[in-house]
Amino acid sequence: MRLTDKVIFITGASRGIGAASARQLAQRGARLVLGARTAAPLQAVADDIRDAGGEALAVPLDVTDPASVQAAVDVALARYGRIDVLINNAGNGGALGFLLDTDPDATRAMFEVHVFGAERMTRAVLPAMLAQGGGRVVNVVSTVGYVPMPGAAAYCAAKAAVIALTEALRGELADHPVTLVLFSPPHTQTEAGRDWPLDLPRTFQPDEAAAALVATLQRDRRDWLAGGNQTLLWLQRISPRWAAGIMRGIGLDATRKALALKAPALAPPGT
Ligand SMILES: NC(=O)c1ccc[n+]([C@@H]2O[C@H](COP(=O)([O-])OP(=O)(O)OC[C@H]3O[C@@H](n4cnc5c(N)ncnc54)[C@H](OP(=O)(O)O)[C@@H]3O)[C@@H](O)[C@H]2O)c1
Repeated sequence: MRLTDKVIFITGASRGIGAASARQLAQRGARLVLGARTAAPLQAVADDIRDAGGEALAVPLDVTDPASVQAAVDVALARYGRIDVLINNAGNGGALGFLLDTDPDATRAMFEVHVFGAERMTRAVLPAMLAQGGGRVVNVVSTVGYVPMPGAAAYCAAKAAVIALTEALRGELADHPVTLVLFSPPHTQTEAGRDWPLDLPRTFQPDEAAAALVATLQRDRRDWLAGGNQTLLWLQRISPRWAAGIMRGIGLDATRKALALKAPALAPPGT
């Protein structure tokens, strides 16, 4: 896909992978619509892009709120008359923790943002894409949506649900010129990523994850697990137990580390 002049709506664009992707897409000539809840940092990203000679419109939105989603999509369509690419990127990994110790409402909240948020955005944008004769929806998922990790059950379940939703919709849209893409960033040093102390050979910066997302669009990839994580998926196909074992080790270790960091320091004896 050539990115020049494409209208690209990206959610979660106020920081992290979303903001870095927006900047890189704008450098390649795309016209950006940026969504996130907090207006000031979102506007700052749009201003940066415009100062660098690009085009960007900041539209505050909460993907968990149907009225806010519809209003934001209406603003984008009123401005540009079309949306060529929707990138459902908004989300967070949540704190690591063992399921029985977590609040059931936290699981629901995770689904609200990742699953229902992506679904809401897609429902709002698809009619315009179909009417204009084409479009692309990129759902930003995660390696742990394919190979789940202990300590992040709700997040893994939510990303797995997004993957299933995407696959089902692909079938429904097979005869239409709208394509669906699944993109999994590597473990990236963002506000969300820093909450997960994973012991991995390498951690990525937002610009690196964004470059992989941009390449996924430019090379018309359908599914891409960036940062070498595609290997884990192949391993899972050959030996599901082996892949699960690797994730079990990483997840348990990281969750124990995260819980220890959160625990209050022991009071010194005699106090
Ligand atoms: N970082 C990683 O290692 C990693 C790995 C795999 C997958 N991912 C996925 O990559 C995506 C981006 O993550 P990130 O690491 O860049 O996170 P991040 O730095 O924490 O940024 C999250 C973005 O989402 C926005 N957001 C959160 N809730 C929202 C809502 N209800 N409505 C609209 N916007 C919302 C945030 O802005 P506001 O708070 O202002 O709304 C922010 O712009 C997420 O889907 C995440 O699950 C990340």
